[in-house]
Amino acid sequence: MSLHSVSIIGTGAYLPDAVITNADLEKMVDTNDEWIFSRTGIRERRKMGDEQTVTEMGAAAAQRAIEAAGIDPAEIDLIIAASFTADLAFPPLAAMIQREIGATRAAAFDTNAVCAGFLFAMVQGAQFVQTGAYKTALIVAAEGLTRFVDYTDRNSCILFGDGAGAAILRAGEPVAADAPLSDKTGFIDFDLGSDGTRVNVAFVPRANAPAAWLKTLSEREQITPYIWQDGRAMFKAAINGMTDSVKRILDRQHISAEEIATLVPHQANLRIIEAVGERVGIPTERVALCLEEYGNTSAASMAITLDKWKRLGRIGQGDLVMFTAFAGGLTWGSALFRM
Ligand SMILES: CC(C)(COP(=O)(O)OP(=O)(O)OC[C@H]1O[C@@H](n2cnc3c(N)ncnc32)[C@H](O)[C@@H]1OP(=O)(O)O)[C@@H](O)C(=O)NCCC(=O)NCCS
Repeated sequence: MSLHSVSIIGTGAYLPDAVITNADLEKMVDTNDEWIFSRTGIRERRKMGDEQTVTEMGAAAAQRAIEAAGIDPAEIDLIIAASFTADLAFPPLAAMIQREIGATRAAAFDTNAVCAGFLFAMVQGAQFVQTGAYKTALIVAAEGLTRFVDYTDRNSCILFGDGAGAAILRAGEPVAADAPLSDKTGFIDFDLGSDGTRVNVAFVPRANAPAAWLKTLSEREQITPYIWQDGRAMFKAAINGMTDSVKRILDRQHISAEEIATLVPHQANLRIIEAVGERVGIPTERVALCLEEYGNTSAASMAITLDKWKRLGRIGQGDLVMFTAFAGGLTWGSALFRM
């Protein structure tokens, strides 16, 4: 069997201008810059404007990816948007973005795997392109997390920020599925998983959440849909989930961690990222980061990081790049690309 190679031919990101610094948070909750930076690696995060929409942020990132790829929006066959903070429950964010960027030919739908959303959407899009069903796919993640943050809860408000990132996937020549790794470019392998028995580790309730679920929340939480998380449980599960997922791909492809030029992880907490790097054998110098300046932007974080590292010239042609993410669900996944 032959499958088309799937390359990332352009990336883009959008970050709103307004900054929330650790000093700003010191004025809202009992915390300080030293605690936040040493426990999370975060110094700042961005905040979307009161009038701004998640759609606008996603469209701006998509536009930049389209420009970087040098394609016409009408060439896009498929748009998958990843977000849990879309402006409307429906239509999908992907369709809202489609309207903004004029990708008139595309089929558009959303994927929700929370912080792993961009990774899941990228793997999903790659399936359509690999099979030859579609030639060009836009994968876009956009999140307005500050609208779901409880700024009286010091355990969570320090982590999250707003932003968007995007990538264009494009089909290349067909390659035999069993060809040696050295003959493969673009998308090579993936590993996805979920543990639905742990849905209560992190969540955002909707107004229509089941009564039994709402009963577990305080009165204030029932009125406003905040991000609720068990930080410590998430911390441990994230390290184990991403480490095991990356190792499964390394084992299956018979490659060592030394061969991975760059690890692009979900940006949740620097201590989580460093622990994963250490356990899989990839030193921090080869790990792409942007959480110091942007915090955790959920699904958008991996896309923003990829774009930043590519524009800095730190991801080169032919590099083996491992993506890995972890999310509420619990959900995890990794994907291996040769850029
Ligand atoms: C949330 C997180 C930063 C907390 O860091 P931690 O090192 O695990 O800290 P702990 O929760 O063990 O808390 C340690 C102490 O610091 C305190 N603390 C928590 N937040 C604080 C803050 N912003 N400033 C100062 N102190 C704080 C706690 O109250 C606790 O005090 P205590 O020992 O008196 O009870 C960390 O667990 C984390 O990043 N988890 C992953 C979260 C995630 O990825 N979420 C995204 C998915 S929704």
